[in-house]
Amino acid sequence: MNELYAINPPATLTEIERDSETLGFSMASDFRTGALLRTLATAKPNGSFLEIGTGTGISTAWILDGMSQDATLLTIDNDDRVAAIASKYLGHDPRVRFQVGDGLEFLDSISDQRFDFIFADSWPGKYDELDKALRLLKPGGLYLIDDMLPQPNWPEGHEAKAERLIQTLEANEELRITKLNWSSGLIVATKRV
Ligand SMILES: C[S@@+](CC[C@H](N)C(=O)[O-])C[C@H]1O[C@@H](n2cnc3c(N)ncnc32)[C@H](O)[C@@H]1O
Repeated sequence: MNELYAINPPATLTEIERDSETLGFSMASDFRTGALLRTLATAKPNGSFLEIGTGTGISTAWILDGMSQDATLLTIDNDDRVAAIASKYLGHDPRVRFQVGDGLEFLDSISDQRFDFIFADSWPGKYDELDKALRLLKPGGLYLIDDMLPQPNWPEGHEAKAERLIQTLEANEELRITKLNWSSGLIVATKRV
């Protein structure tokens, strides 16, 4: 099986990657992670999607490519330079709303909304305020994180933080989790009904 064969990535991916390289942005999600995000996005028709850590929109493009026409995505990043690339290529899509701001403030401010799918690709909602992010997940909803295998850009001491996060998710009885030692290392969790 060739995991990269016949993937047919989102049409905008090449242009987003080109602009990301020009900007020097190197934190984008892996191609295989993108393909998985798209597959799982398709499993939530009419879903309400949240992404924390838009970056330049690479994972956003994959998620949008999997979403149904009546689904919606809110994506947040605190860096307007990277978010500008994402909205340049994806902003025409009426299903997506870009928010430039702090993910922690967002998690503190939101109380009434619930999501079918959360991709937490930043500190907020993953290493910080994990509980607040999980509270926003509907029963049956999907919570996804990547970069759980050691990455070249991890700062000193990050391995221990990643291990603590894995243990926290393993111990959470509200979740069913699958750990994938594949791509950059993923955890796929669903909230039990
Ligand atoms: C791993 S990158 C996201 C990559 C993106 N998902 C992609 O595939 O291109 C993490 C992002 O989180 C953003 N970020 C860091 N701290 C943040 C915060 N406190 N609130 C919101 N975004 C933050 C960074 O600007 C960066 O774009």
